[in-house]
Amino acid sequence: MIAISEAVSAIRTATANFTPEVGIILGTGLGGFVEHIDITYSLDYKDIPNMPVSTVEGHHGRLIFGTVGGRKVVAMQGRFHYYEGYTMKQVTFPVRVMALLGIKYLFVSNASGGINTSFRVGDLMIITDHINLLPNPLIGPNMAEFGPRFPDMHDCYSSALRAKATEIAEQEAIKLQYGVYVGTTGPTFETQAEYRYFKAIGGDAVGMSTVPEVIVARHMGVPAFGVSVITNCGLSDEKGDHEDVQRQGKRAGERMARLFTRLIEQLQSNYDK
Ligand code: HPA
Repeated sequence: MIAISEAVSAIRTATANFTPEVGIILGTGLGGFVEHIDITYSLDYKDIPNMPVSTVEGHHGRLIFGTVGGRKVVAMQGRFHYYEGYTMKQVTFPVRVMALLGIKYLFVSNASGGINTSFRVGDLMIITDHINLLPNPLIGPNMAEFGPRFPDMHDCYSSALRAKATEIAEQEAIKLQYGVYVGTTGPTFETQAEYRYFKAIGGDAVGMSTVPEVIVARHMGVPAFGVSVITNCGLSDEKGDHEDVQRQGKRAGERMARLFTRLIEQLQSNYDK
């Protein structure tokens, strides 16, 4: 708690009390969204007290403060994964910080493996729900000032935000898939048997992030919106050529950025719960 407050006060000082309305977590390969932000302040993680520092090469590790469609946002360029060796408290630390800075919504993105056989590489999947196969970030003494001991997980991914995203995608001619995200520890990708297992338990896509951050946001009463970019299809025979996957990922990232931008522009206070 003290560690979180220290980070929050240092950020407030460095940003002249910038109060973001939306927190955004940019997944692997999706940092391009930053080009859509009119940047006011950019803080390296290493300059924020108690903030973990990214270990993955090519991950910038910055908190970016600015506006999107006239609304104040804070974006994490570079997130922390459990497989890197961080504790779940470290993985979710920035979400606590963003919530205390005042975010009213959390937007999360990730790259994931498609399980649903109707998905194609490059598809965008709106996360409708998740299955958590990582340690729960709320294990340990409950921080009652943040939220309840046993948080409710109904409507974990705001149905109001999902409905609005569907409307926007129709206007923008963006194809969307919908599905359940399975969160694993990684770092191994799945065996074929594991992809089949995740399909059997109701998963549509699998990845190594997102779930911890969303659980912590929901603990604090912050509505969540999540999008997965499908970068490979686990149950398909095609191996998928790496360059093609990257190209598809980049194009999908542009569509995702457009969706996020329009949705942020059109946020209304009635999406709060
Ligand atoms: N599995 C887990 N995480 C992933 C995958 C996958 O197939 N693709 C991208 N992230």
